[in-house]
This record gives sequence, structure tokens and C-alpha cells, in this order.
Amino acid sequence: MTLAPQALIERERLRFAREHPRCAALAGDAAKHFPGAVPMHWMADWGTPFPLFIAAAEGAELEDLDGYRYRDFCLGDTGAMFGHSPVAIVAAITEQAGRGLTCMLPAARTASVGAALASRFALPFWQLTQTATDANRAALRWARAITGRRKILVFQGCYHGTVDETMVRLRGGRTVTREGAIGPAFDGATAALAVEFNDFGALEAALAGGDIAAVIAEPVMTNVGMVLPQQGFLEHLRELTCRHGTLLIIDETHTLSSGPAGYAGEQALQADFWVCGKAIAGGVPCAVYGFTTEVEARMRAVLASREPGHSGMGTTLAGNALTLAALEAALLHLHTRETHAPMQAGASRLASQLQSLFGARGLPWHVSRVGARVEFGFTAAPRNGSEAEAAMRPVLEQALHLWLLNRGLIVTPFHNMMLIAPMQTGAAVDALVGEIGAFLDEVKL
Ligand SMILES: Cc1ncc(COP(=O)(O)O)c(C=O)c1O
Repeated sequence: MTLAPQALIERERLRFAREHPRCAALAGDAAKHFPGAVPMHWMADWGTPFPLFIAAAEGAELEDLDGYRYRDFCLGDTGAMFGHSPVAIVAAITEQAGRGLTCMLPAARTASVGAALASRFALPFWQLTQTATDANRAALRWARAITGRRKILVFQGCYHGTVDETMVRLRGGRTVTREGAIGPAFDGATAALAVEFNDFGALEAALAGGDIAAVIAEPVMTNVGMVLPQQGFLEHLRELTCRHGTLLIIDETHTLSSGPAGYAGEQALQADFWVCGKAIAGGVPCAVYGFTTEVEARMRAVLASREPGHSGMGTTLAGNALTLAALEAALLHLHTRETHAPMQAGASRLASQLQSLFGARGLPWHVSRVGARVEFGFTAAPRNGSEAEAAMRPVLEQALHLWLLNRGLIVTPFHNMMLIAPMQTGAAVDALVGEIGAFLDEVKL
């Protein structure tokens, strides 16, 4: 007998509660001081009746407080894309840990890290922040200062971190502040214009006015399910931004999964700013933004002409010694073809097996892949953020995620994203596809 997704959720939640007495007890204690029993509220978004507390994470596996082990395809929603505690990162931060964590002064390895960033990601100048949110916020601030323009352009359905001016949606042809945003500092429509991804004409019309400081974009949208760029769209974007004096900020926080130099490296995509966070330092909090020689010269002109005072950018711990050590190790040992090869192979195996599974069942579902990242959705591949939003089925997704979690498989709690760490095994991929098939046997679609 098949069950509706909501009924499956309830059944799986009961099972989770039964099997996790220690997590339940810890949740009770933690809730005394952390709302929802979690130190960061997204950690309560998994659909479980109380949090799954993790005792240890290693390679592509997690172990919870009740002793259950999981094959991890979420990988900290990308932060642990290269596996948990990569050997090179552990060695680098262990070595640095006894020699100072943070001094608000540049560490001795600053020049070598800069050279490694420039050589890996093909941009000459760099700054560090602690999160991709901060890197995007800084790049946007610079773009406004450099161009003297106020507005930015984003693609409908985007996510670039909790940057107020990017927290917008396109609704009924108008840009509005994103639903659910708590305490926005200003009306998003005053700061940003949202257009549909892959809409060549809308993009052209929006930039033609010459009043847009920057376009900030993922080369593949990854936060509304996945939306791939149509043939020529990114080239069109680059050409239009150049033509209208708009700076292009490419946010590769997720599409770093494409290869050792990200999507831009694989596809020779040029930008004025290139941003990446999450996995850039192998899981240690760090983000970077790189920029061209021309942008650096224009930054100097801004600095020379401004009033003295606080820049509005930077945070005290950014670029600290521990982070630099991790970043250097990641540049040397993780952002490499050798590390990526098994990730790409595993993701290809997963994508083709899912395609076969859905095909065999006559489901019109699509599977997308960007390097080590695989996603599926419940319709044909969406062409833009609005189509992707309309295709989402949150209750069905939650039922699937809980089903998998109770069977030792973790995928992100947001849509159906799965990442393959370098040490992930073919057997684990097969097990994931097998359990998705078993779920489809039980769920009433
Ligand atoms: C494309 C993109 N940019 C930026 C961010 C923000 O990253 P963080 O939460 O680490 O600041 C995210 C987070 O999911 C993201 O997906």
C-alpha cells in the first residue's frame, strides 16, 4: 500500500523519534538555551521532530549521538564538499593552531596564498572574508562605489547569502523584498532589479538604461533547484555588462563543484569579480573575492577620492592565520584535478542511475549535474527561477529526505541536492539510488 507524502512524513518522524533517544534528551537540554535546540536556526530545518546531533564526521560519513552512521551527500550544504576533515586541512590547521589563531595582522603566508589564488582562479587581486555572504556584500559595495550607480541586478530565484539587496523576488513583473525576510533594512525594490535567468531580452532591456552597478549571478542557479544556462546566455551576460558599464560578479560558492577552478575555469567565463565561500578553505570558515586589474585600479581611485572613515566592509576575524593556513592547504591539495576526478565520476554515476530510475518508472522528472553536484526535480528541466519555484513540492521533498535519513543517507534539506565527496564510494551511490527507488514504491505521487 502506498502512502501520501504527509502520512509518510508522520510515520518517518515517529521512527526517527523511536530510534534517537539520546538526540531527544540532548535536544531537551539544548533547547533551554538555544531556540529550537540548535545554535543556528537553519539546523532545525530537516523535518526531524528534534535535531539529529552529530557525534563525529569523517570523510563522507557522519555518526550521530545514538550511534547510527550515515553516508553524507549533503556535505554541510557544500562546506564539506571535499569530505569532512580532509587530511591536508587538518594538518595545516594543527600546525598553525599553536602559533596564533588571529592577530588582525597579516600572517607570513599571505603572499603565497595570494599567488596560489591568482594561479588557480586566474584573477590577480583578492580579499578574504569569513562567509560568502560577506564577500558578496563587499563586492556589491565596491561595484556601487566604482560605478557611482545605486541599483544591482539579480536573477529571479537567486540566493547569494543574507545580503539584503539580493533578498528579492520577481512577483507579477515587479521586484519585491523576498517573502519571509525578517526585518529587512530597506525595500528590496529600491536596491535591486530581478529578471528571469535565461531571458536574453529582459536582461538586455534592464541593462540598457545604464543605471545598474552590477549583475550578481551564479553561472548555474543552484538555490531554487538547479537551472542551467541556455546556450549563449552567459556570453550574452558578459557582453551586455561590458557594453553598459555594469560590473559582473560571478558567485561560485556552489558551482565550485564544476572543477578545480569552478565553472568559470571550466567554461572560460570572464567576470569583474569572482566570489567563492563554503568549501574554498576545505570547510574552515572562509570566503574570497577576486577581481581584475582594472577593478583594482578603480578601487584605488575610490579610496583616493572618498571621505576618511569606516569603509563599511571587513570583519575582525577575516583573513586570520588559521584561515590562511587552511586556504593554502585547500589550494594545494583540494582544488585539483586529482581531487575532483572521483567526485565527477561519482556524480556522473549518480546522475545516470537516477535518470534510468525515473525513466523506468515513466516519471517526467529531470536530473541536472554541475560537476560533483547532482539535483533532480519533479518536472522537465526548468528554464528560469519562476519555473523552478513552481515545480517544487516541499512536502514530497521532506518525505523523501526523512525516508533517506532514517535509512542512513543524508541529502540536503533544501530541494533535492546531492554532492559527491572524493572518498564517496560507488556502493554508497548505488545505495542512495536504491533507497530513492524504494521510496517511490511506497509514496503516493
Ligand atoms: C550561491 C551562494 N552564494 C552565497 C551563499 C552564502 O554562503 P554563506 O551562508 O556561507 O555566507 C550561498 C549559501 O548557500 C550560496 O548558495
